Amino acid sequence: MMKLTILSENNAIPPFDAEHGLSMLLEYGGKKLLFDTGAGSVLPGNSEKMNIDLSSVDGVILSHGHRDHTGGLVHVPPATVWHSPGITDPHYSHHPGKPVRTLTMPENCMEHLGKCQCCTVHNFTEIMPGIFLTGPIPRISGEDCGGPFYTDQQGTVKDFISNEQALLLQEGVLIQGCCHAGIINTLEYCRKIHPEIRVHTIIGGLHLLLASEERLKQTAEYLKQSGIETLYLLHCTGDNAVAYLKKSLPEIKIQTPCVDGIPILLNGM
Ligand SMILES: [Fe+2]
Ligand SMILES: [Fe+2]
Repeated sequence: MMKLTILSENNAIPPFDAEHGLSMLLEYGGKKLLFDTGAGSVLPGNSEKMNIDLSSVDGVILSHGHRDHTGGLVHVPPATVWHSPGITDPHYSHHPGKPVRTLTMPENCMEHLGKCQCCTVHNFTEIMPGIFLTGPIPRISGEDCGGPFYTDQQGTVKDFISNEQALLLQEGVLIQGCCHAGIINTLEYCRKIHPEIRVHTIIGGLHLLLASEERLKQTAEYLKQSGIETLYLLHCTGDNAVAYLKKSLPEIKIQTPCVDGIPILLNGM
């Protein structure tokens, strides 16, 4: 059985707290892995309310360096941390009409990372039986997965957030942080490396917040022809995108879970 408990997300039901971020506890094959750590303001409180002991995890997976996924790392006692190369690289967002924002991992988390046992994932790797990390995902499909992201404060160098990785379970579940690599690229890469794994369920953020109608259409068509059966859409997917996918993919079960203390359970796994 696979059990996934959402500890940080943009929405929460009291007594739990929300933040712009993502953190989920994956329990699978007798292991407990924290997938992302949220922005840092709600992880300890929500975990405590759910009687989840963060010191008992077998390791932490960081999907990418953005602070809404890495900012809670200081609340997890030093552990094994799997991340892609460049996890501490600088990231900035330049949303039109808004001040430039840093998205880089907070400094206290970088320091904390120095006390952890870091495993840099360069290539598609099986980190535990049946649990794979993609490492950096090649942008092979031509999918438009850009955004207002830059590696410098001045906004001169585009940031492709190439340090994003996804988690794939042997039984066909794909877990995402923000999916800055694009869901088409990610699924294509999983298929290329592990053609024997048929992905039927996707859980996480799909970063379609600012996606054009054309990109939404392309995404929906791809998900349909890929045989995806269930989508748990979280965090940065965007309300418009969720509504679009629900409308155009009636054959796919689409849910939008939040921090509510009710774990996602997938039986037979
Ligand atoms: Fe995010
Ligand atoms: Fe992100």
